[in-house]
Amino acid sequence: REPIRVALLGCGTVGTEVVRLLQEHPTEYAARTGAPVRVTGVAVRRPHKHPDVPEQLLTTDAAALVEGSADVIVELIGGIEPARSLLLAALRAGKSVVTANKALLAEHGSELYAAADANGVDIYFEAAVAGAIPLLRPLRESLAGDRINRVTGIVNGTSNYILSAMDSTGAGYEETLEEANRLGYAEADPTADVDGFDAASKAAILASLAFHTRVGAGDVHREGISGIGAGDIEAARSLNRTVKLLAICERVIDEDGTESVSARVHPAMIPRDHPLAGVGGAFNAVFVEAESAGQLMFYGQGAGGAPTASAVLGDLVAAARNVVVSGKGPRESAHAQLPARAMDWT
Ligand code: HSE
Repeated sequence: REPIRVALLGCGTVGTEVVRLLQEHPTEYAARTGAPVRVTGVAVRRPHKHPDVPEQLLTTDAAALVEGSADVIVELIGGIEPARSLLLAALRAGKSVVTANKALLAEHGSELYAAADANGVDIYFEAAVAGAIPLLRPLRESLAGDRINRVTGIVNGTSNYILSAMDSTGAGYEETLEEANRLGYAEADPTADVDGFDAASKAAILASLAFHTRVGAGDVHREGISGIGAGDIEAARSLNRTVKLLAICERVIDEDGTESVSARVHPAMIPRDHPLAGVGGAFNAVFVEAESAGQLMFYGQGAGGAPTASAVLGDLVAAARNVVVSGKGPRESAHAQLPARAMDWT
């Protein structure tokens, strides 16, 4: 069958990894989706800064890529504009969209979902919160039959990296931030990380999915870690606690039974035996409390090129499968590559 054509908008740490993996494992992606998955263009601002991407794919004209023949648009530009306009144009042109853009989803999610619905296409955004951790689909789908009461998460890898280093090695704030930047965890503007904007966008997305409502970034109380010093870390230690930047989303029930949702991001001293206390480095973890399921913990790499590319590619496979089955080819064409065999466990 015809290849699924994929255009990338933006190609930083995550995009480079996405292109590399698609080009290194074409047979696997074809087998999983039912058609070859072909990158047909990568829009960037400065093509000469992308030696790892085949030159013929690079363009500076993102709008033309969106209007072109691509079936799926992968947006990794970040920020609000031009990402918002480009994605709206893609959805209106009947193209599915994969995005890791938490700020855009938190601020303009309703507008994007409405455009997707109106045009019969989907927006996939597993990579927008907690990098590689499969979290958003479980919240939206697997737990849709339950009643979630609270979601508490470490959802900013950069802040967690800084706080963990300050706690374990006594390293200073500035030097650790520089290191997080170098490792590709931090946002283009790291104040989004340390001042809690990134975590607030993620909290808005988590609260919207967990409580089946619309929570925007502006509804989230926000406080970052830039005011945390060695003295705070030491004070927490003397109380057998550690400092973590938490995103807390919870169902609030007033005395008269009225329900609402509260979402907030702030540093908190948590007991060292709390499940979130041992989450170090740029790792993320999200602790979910639901009425029937009880307590669930999602844990893994929340930032960085390869982990985030894993989530983007998972979404891309899902989007490509949907292109294949929407009248253009049978799902059966996704042949299993590895044969199943009975295992002897004795
Ligand atoms: N800057 C983000 C973080 C990247 O540190 O968590 C992942 O969204």
